[in-house]
Amino acid sequence: METGLLHLHNLLRWVVLILLLVSIYKSYAGGAGNKQFTASDKKIWLFTMIASHITLLLGLYQWLLGRYGVLSYIKPEGSSTMKDPFLRFFQVEHPISMLLAILFITLGYGMSKKQVEDGVKFKKALRYFVLALILILAAVPWPFRGDIIGRPLFPGM
Ligand code: HEM
Repeated sequence: METGLLHLHNLLRWVVLILLLVSIYKSYAGGAGNKQFTASDKKIWLFTMIASHITLLLGLYQWLLGRYGVLSYIKPEGSSTMKDPFLRFFQVEHPISMLLAILFITLGYGMSKKQVEDGVKFKKALRYFVLALILILAAVPWPFRGDIIGRPLFPGM
């Protein structure tokens, strides 16, 4: 089960990224083309938020009880989380950046419910979604980040 949950967390990254890119495109096209905010825009923003929240729940589980979880991993004698690049990344940098990214996605979705002009909805949501994308791209343990932090593009690779 442990491995399955980690694989799911890995795979959901692609779902979040694809939905986020579609949300960004729709917000940009809506704002630039002075379009009306439609139910389809709201649906895509909602799906993006739901996918990110599921990833958050799985991440929280990894962070607390996973192989390197703060409650389950026993650090080698004398080591410190902030001085160890591996622990610092998975216990501090990755979770904090992703939490912020998911907060921005949630704020972006929140714009769909605000009583403001459609143009304002699109523009503000676009800003939140782009910020989230930057944070996610920066904090994913991409394979090119090296042996210590890098993880496969797809589970089990
Ligand atoms: C959109 C949000 C997120 C994305 C795209 C994401 C992506 C990833 C990816 C691709 C991995 C590597 C998985 C593997 O080894 O196969 C990973 C690992 C991990 N993530 Fe996330 N993550 C997100 C949110 C979070 C959050 C919010 C937390 C904690 C609160 C978290 C905690 C972890 C931990 C602890 C690991 C390492 C698990 C292990 O190796 O045992 N993640 N994440």
